[in-house]
Amino acid sequence: MSTAQGLNLTLKVWRQKNNKDKGQMETYQVTDISPDSSFLEMMDILNEQLVGEGKEPVAFDHDCREGICGTCSMFINGEAHGPGREITTCQLHMREFKNGETIYIEPWRAKAFPVVKDLVVDRGAFDRIMAAGGFISVNTSGNTQDANALPIPKYDADRAMDAATCIGCGACVASCKNSSAMLFVSAKVSQFALLPQGKVEAAERVQKMVKVMDEEGFGNCSNTGACEVECPKGISLENIARMNREFIKAGAASEHSS
Ligand code: SF4
Ligand code: FES
Repeated sequence: MSTAQGLNLTLKVWRQKNNKDKGQMETYQVTDISPDSSFLEMMDILNEQLVGEGKEPVAFDHDCREGICGTCSMFINGEAHGPGREITTCQLHMREFKNGETIYIEPWRAKAFPVVKDLVVDRGAFDRIMAAGGFISVNTSGNTQDANALPIPKYDADRAMDAATCIGCGACVASCKNSSAMLFVSAKVSQFALLPQGKVEAAERVQKMVKVMDEEGFGNCSNTGACEVECPKGISLENIARMNREFIKAGAASEHSS
């Protein structure tokens, strides 16, 4: 059991009634917060306090609270998922903050992620990119081949597995000065492009996913690398380079066949 002193904090929280509302920062005080509590537990305490005062609680997304679902999107003190590397907001602990500190809490800010309410944004654009090509078409009826029948070099299997750890949280977009979704899309393209199962539809996949990415209003990648730094899953920029190669290869193949 921790004997550490509870934290008294000033919270500056973005409040926005709906997508049409202009929104503004509101100031709240929370007291005696255990350094062992998670950031979301601290937000729960704030909300209990607000409800007790007859005020509207702060809307924020959360589900698994263990770094898997990718929903807990908060921009804390100017960083996606707050201080700390390779963690989501639900994995951030209050021991990272000092007694008396002021903490700024905002939603992801990107044209393609409109604010729904307070800290909740609509990340449906990611779903539409996935629907355009983030899958493999496998006939699962009857004579499905055993996965182990296809030998895959360990290097490729590891790179594909690394790319597949992307949880679609959107921190890459929120951290990018251009609101680019390249790290997310490249992780999804890479996890398939590296494996034999994904090669069949590879050209079509990358072209369709990039097309929807552009249509949804995400910006261009200018190789700043903020996305990689803030990604809770450590998705590497090498995926963007791979996606660019896949995209050029797909373009050359369609030119050749036309
Ligand atoms: S690439 Fe990283 S930051 Fe971007 S959506 Fe995936 S897990 Fe989140
Ligand atoms: S609540 Fe699921 S990743 Fe944070």
